[in-house]
Amino acid sequence: MTGTVKGRTEVQRAVDVNHRLHTPVCDILGCQYPIVLAGMGGVARSELVAAVTRAGGFGFLGMVREPPTLIENEARSVREIVGHGSFGVNLIPAATAPDLLDAQIATCIALTIPVIALFWDIQPTIVRRLKEAGVIVAYQIGSVENAKQAEKVGADILIAQGREAGGHVWGNEPLRRLIPSVVAASKLPVLAAGGIVNGEDLVGGRHSYLRETGEGRCDLRGRRSWRNRARGCGRRPRWRQP
Ligand SMILES: Cc1cc2nc3c(=O)[nH]c(=O)nc-3n(C[C@H](O)[C@H](O)[C@H](O)COP(=O)(O)O)c2cc1C
Repeated sequence: MTGTVKGRTEVQRAVDVNHRLHTPVCDILGCQYPIVLAGMGGVARSELVAAVTRAGGFGFLGMVREPPTLIENEARSVREIVGHGSFGVNLIPAATAPDLLDAQIATCIALTIPVIALFWDIQPTIVRRLKEAGVIVAYQIGSVENAKQAEKVGADILIAQGREAGGHVWGNEPLRRLIPSVVAASKLPVLAAGGIVNGEDLVGGRHSYLRETGEGRCDLRGRRSWRNRARGCGRRPRWRQP
């Protein structure tokens, strides 16, 4: 059934919304919508990644500190469910012993994982190794300074994490302030992370950021409600606590 809203059918409106939601990052990641599952360690496993991918988004397996065998099994499982390789793996170099990190990266490259999301401080040698292997690198950052560093060392996509975010939080800026300054400072597509949970957050947030920046590079990424913005502000994870 189609209704008419101000002279346009619901089908036309749905087509328009789909069109507006297709942003440059969709072409880089090979997904329909700029909605990305955060690579949550211990949480973002193959079932969740496959579900997000099949719904038109893009999923990262949360593989921080996980052994290469688990990365292999989880990647195989996503490929079996989804039938294609359009998903990524999240790693956190600063939280991983060097030998294990080396093995994780070698495994991802051998498995031809197309996209790796990295988090925490910027590690140029790791980005270089991934880029030389043809991997797309997304870097989650929490400040303009980190955004500039990530772009300089070769990242393809930035994920701006506001202090509203759950899990480990790297920066201290609220998302509404971080996004415009990161977009202004970088030529890369910018995904937003922190307190985004529903369509209203996605469309409303995207529009308000675009108004502030006048650009079309901001996509959205996240998991929960803006109401949770106070939780986890500025916390430092255990691996960096004195
Ligand atoms: C339970 C949980 C685990 C997380 N684990 C990781 C992780 O392993 N690697 C990572 O880059 N980010 C991790 N994050 C942070 C996310 O990448 C992202 O910044 C955050 O979820 C966005 O905020 P939101 O939770 O309000 O959507 C985690 C977040 C949560 C809630």
